[in-house]
Amino acid sequence: MANLSRRAMLIGGVGAAGAITLMNKPEDRSGPRDEYFLAIQTALKTAGIATPSLIIDRHRLNQNIDTLMQHLPSDMGYRIVAKSLPSLSLIEHIRRRSGSDRIMTFNQPMLSQLSLAMPEASQLLGKPLPVNAARTFFSTLPETASAAGDKIEWLIDTNHRLEQYERLAQDVGRTLKINLELDIGLHRGGFEPDQALSSALQKLAGSEYLEFAGYMGYETHLPAIPTTLGWQDRAKAGAWNKYRQALTLAAAHFDPATIDQLTRNAAGSPTYRYYDTTEIANEISAGSCLVKPTHFDTDLLTPFLPAAFIAAPVIKSMPITRMPGLEFADAPTRAWNPNSSKTIFIYGGHWLADPVDPPGLSYNSTFGRSSNQEMLNGGAALDIAADDFVFLRPHQSEALFMQFGDIAIYEDGEIVDYWPVFPASA
Ligand SMILES: Cc1ncc(COP(=O)(O)O)c(C=O)c1O
Repeated sequence: MANLSRRAMLIGGVGAAGAITLMNKPEDRSGPRDEYFLAIQTALKTAGIATPSLIIDRHRLNQNIDTLMQHLPSDMGYRIVAKSLPSLSLIEHIRRRSGSDRIMTFNQPMLSQLSLAMPEASQLLGKPLPVNAARTFFSTLPETASAAGDKIEWLIDTNHRLEQYERLAQDVGRTLKINLELDIGLHRGGFEPDQALSSALQKLAGSEYLEFAGYMGYETHLPAIPTTLGWQDRAKAGAWNKYRQALTLAAAHFDPATIDQLTRNAAGSPTYRYYDTTEIANEISAGSCLVKPTHFDTDLLTPFLPAAFIAAPVIKSMPITRMPGLEFADAPTRAWNPNSSKTIFIYGGHWLADPVDPPGLSYNSTFGRSSNQEMLNGGAALDIAADDFVFLRPHQSEALFMQFGDIAIYEDGEIVDYWPVFPASA
């Protein structure tokens, strides 16, 4: 009721009645529960879990890691996107299974934590950090993890930032590895293969404090470009052409031995399968496909299994749906849309997620969303009691994973472990 606005009541009341003549009558989508989710529910109850929890199915996660690694050409490196897998234990697990010692990191607190926990790993920044964030990183890096500071590739998008980082390198008395961000069509900033890039390369070639470590060119815009009339293929060819030109420019400033050693990073989950040779990129980054939130339900990612779910306890289960102030419309609404017949209220809610089990559940836009006790409606076959669990599939992983405390790890019918997440910081 808390979210029920007067406007929503009016729209919902009038809208529900008025729409009958305009739309097809919806089918009842409710049905028996999926055995897969019932098994997780039993495991949660056995483990004594009774709060909204993020669950990772370790068996499915492992299958996804293996799928990803099998897709890569033999000499292609894999970099783990920490932002999309925001838990040290999760990253550690993926490192072990994939054999990768490369991580893509996106903020200073995560950079600091990963440097302490995995000082032997290579970290490439996935976005340029303000130089003062890099300064904080060095000033808080304990002596014991000092070597981790030399394994970082700092992402640089402009010549101005390059100068700032050169001053930082002098101040901290280290040679900093610099990776140049390329704009290969995403237009999120970075260098194009032009004069500004030449200047950056020249500075790197002559600097005592900076070392050219490679390029990062991200092209997540490509799958959204229509394939009609060859648009997508042209955009892809254009992106790779820019990358190639950037490599040609680099070859004009550095000897072949240096060029050979460069990190040539590209891709993300939706695009890594475009790279079936290492002609352009010699490593790809991916994270989200390993847990597969709904935003990654794409054709290229069909072989991946959803491996992360929110489990939310049912607080109240009601045999009919009653709308506050609109009780007169309850019966006609139910007759029109059988999916609004029954109501449950869950513990928590308003997450970036879609309910998936029991089948046929939906949010109620008239009642409104709630982070405290969310209303979900279902059809005649909805059969769920208080203290059972509803399962939802996240839309994305990066921010959502940090909303539930430790991740509950599910495998073979049991909750087998708890993996702490990074603190929600930027
Ligand atoms: C630079 C960069 N590379 C790769 C990725 C891919 O991450 P994911 O595989 O989780 O989509 C991202 C995501 O935002 C990114 O910013």
